[in-house]
Amino acid sequence: MSATQTSASAADAGANASEAFRAAAARRAAAATSQERTDRLLRRTLEAIYDVIRTEEVSYPEFQAVKRWLMQVGEVGEWPLLLDVFVEHEIEKVAAKTQRGTTGTIEGPYYLPGQYRLPAATTLPMRPDEKGARLVFSGQVRDLDGTALAGAELDVWQADADGYYSGFAPNIPPGNLRGVVVTDADGRFVVTTIKPAPYRIPTDGPTGAMIAAAGWHPWRPAHLHLMVRAEGHRQVTTQLYFDGGDWLDSDVASATKDDLVLALRRQDDGSYAASYDFELEPVAKP
Ligand code: DHB
Ligand code: FE
Repeated sequence: MSATQTSASAADAGANASEAFRAAAARRAAAATSQERTDRLLRRTLEAIYDVIRTEEVSYPEFQAVKRWLMQVGEVGEWPLLLDVFVEHEIEKVAAKTQRGTTGTIEGPYYLPGQYRLPAATTLPMRPDEKGARLVFSGQVRDLDGTALAGAELDVWQADADGYYSGFAPNIPPGNLRGVVVTDADGRFVVTTIKPAPYRIPTDGPTGAMIAAAGWHPWRPAHLHLMVRAEGHRQVTTQLYFDGGDWLDSDVASATKDDLVLALRRQDDGSYAASYDFELEPVAKP
């Protein structure tokens, strides 16, 4: 393989995703979970596992295979990937029960903070020969009452046309297809980028081995990731998908929602256009 070719291995993606998660965890406050709740959550989790063991009569060889596999997930650093694909969607749905405004969905393992701030009409940082159809993504950020939110931030990140994320695959410049777009005085933005490809979770690591062993597929539909924030408002973490794309109905990460699927308009110059307006919920004032 030549040095310029991209070969994202599970070990690259896993190690980098683990590092990104550790850095994010260091910025967050520690979870305030009481001893009572810890006791209850652990008991219920173990009971759910015992139930499977009893009702499925899980054997010693099956138990040893699981142990070996769990060790590999840790060794390769795939815990963030595995948990974000198979668990995060249920955590997000619980959070969503008390949220108004734009629908959220999972963050996934590939967010990186600290990207360049870009004006409201902008092009995401990309390589001079970036592959893929051009996509012009526009819209407005508003309060729940319809007030335009000027100076709101759209923190955008996405895969390239090969399905790889900068920072998590070799040979992609740092910050490629990532940026913090700041809305104009009318809360609007127009971002030129490329249409991302469907994303395949790494198949050469333990998560991929598990998926193959179960006969599942490893695909997510093409998507843009966004965190949208404005002062005095709750930050929304979401993803936008594209109508007619593959895997919309069988996302391996179970993170699609109908109102997050965008219509794509083909323009005369061959590019695509898509729009979405975000609504942010005010945070209660103390
Ligand atoms: C994973 C990757 C994604 O791009 C995403 O949105 C969710 C999960 C993953 O590989 O775990
Ligand atoms: Fe993603």
